Amino acid sequence: MNYKELKRKYGTPLYIYDVNKIKDIISAYKNNFQSGKFETEIIYASKAFNIKEMLRLIKNEGLSLDVVSLGELYTATKIGFPMERIYFHGNNKTEEELRFAIEYNVGIFVIDNLSELRKLSILSKELQKKSSIYIRLNVGVEAHTHKYIVTSHIDSKFGVLYGSEEYKQMLQLIETCEQIELKGLHCHIGSQIFELNPYDIVIEKLTTIVQDFPYPLSINLGGGFGAFYTQADHVIPYERVAKHLIQRMEEELEKKKLRIQKLSIEPGRSIVGEAGRTLYTLGSTKQTPNRLYYFVDGGMTDNIRPALYQAIYAADVVGKEKEIKNKMVTIAGKCCESGDILVENILLPEAQEGDLLVTYSTGAYGYAMSSNYNKACTPAVVFVEDGQDKLVVRRQSMEELIEREI
Ligand code: LLP
Repeated sequence: MNYKELKRKYGTPLYIYDVNKIKDIISAYKNNFQSGKFETEIIYASKAFNIKEMLRLIKNEGLSLDVVSLGELYTATKIGFPMERIYFHGNNKTEEELRFAIEYNVGIFVIDNLSELRKLSILSKELQKKSSIYIRLNVGVEAHTHKYIVTSHIDSKFGVLYGSEEYKQMLQLIETCEQIELKGLHCHIGSQIFELNPYDIVIEKLTTIVQDFPYPLSINLGGGFGAFYTQADHVIPYERVAKHLIQRMEEELEKKKLRIQKLSIEPGRSIVGEAGRTLYTLGSTKQTPNRLYYFVDGGMTDNIRPALYQAIYAADVVGKEKEIKNKMVTIAGKCCESGDILVENILLPEAQEGDLLVTYSTGAYGYAMSSNYNKACTPAVVFVEDGQDKLVVRRQSMEELIEREI
């Protein structure tokens, strides 16, 4: 990748995505997540990175889409994403969001709780539309990951506990409401998971639960498949993940003499994480008694993950990738916040003001969680495919930064 040329054209900080990499990962999922026993579907969890060009790519690749807000959904409508391939998630969809989604004929509402189901049934009646739903279940499985990223322990804010009073009332409401059609069950057990065992447990549990129903439901296993950030991450190849889930499901159905309509997965991070990197310019360096700082022109505003989750990233000084890495460095941003650190204690070669620094695997939840803290402008995003670069998000201008301020 010609970083210097990219910096010349687009400036820094800059998010750079390798489109070939994204397509390879999608193919790995698509080619292996197939079964002769049930339909299959791969749903891109767009919260990881939802911009128009990314959604166009997902649309062209034939994947479905998970959205969690009006904003994500609106973006999808703007690029003509097929509405029937959209799953609308979220634990607290507002009336405005539900209305918009019903009017736009969103494919599936993944319903988190009873009060949400009530709202949907009232609005569906009012708008005279049928709404297809999955119930998001909390089956009490939690996978090993950072505690903020866990989403299925017993008191989780997500999903309804199987067998609880709330769950029973939801089933009653579904039975009596003509406007609501229950199509499937959903479960998401966490993120950045490097084991398959938790998914095996979920498959076992969900296939037990679908037996409660008189017709074949669909099952959505959520996302969470671990992605590569540094050498410490032992990624299970996505081909293997996909094949394993299919095989486990087929075995379980065989064992229980069951049928399901469709099996889906919802990867976000694993599709875009490794394909993204962020380019910075080194401003100053500073030696304190115990640290050598490399200060870059971005920071927690373009990547909050180190500050929020103590996430670890790999980095290089551009053009010096092969040089001896003999400086123990902390790469820090330019925000007024001590926690504004991008990479703590990393070995890098000596670098000078004006050098370019790149951090790897920033494609998921980087741009998506960026902020304007300190009134930093959101960086531009560039897609690179077969050596050709294309600007897909313009850098935010100062004027845009204040345009809504009265
Ligand atoms: N499906 C549901 C219902 C989810 O809640 C999530 C992620 C996914 C799919 C996709 O999971 P993935 O394949 O990306 O791991 N901001 C955090 C991650 C939060 C994930 C929330 N839910 C981070 O930066 O690590």
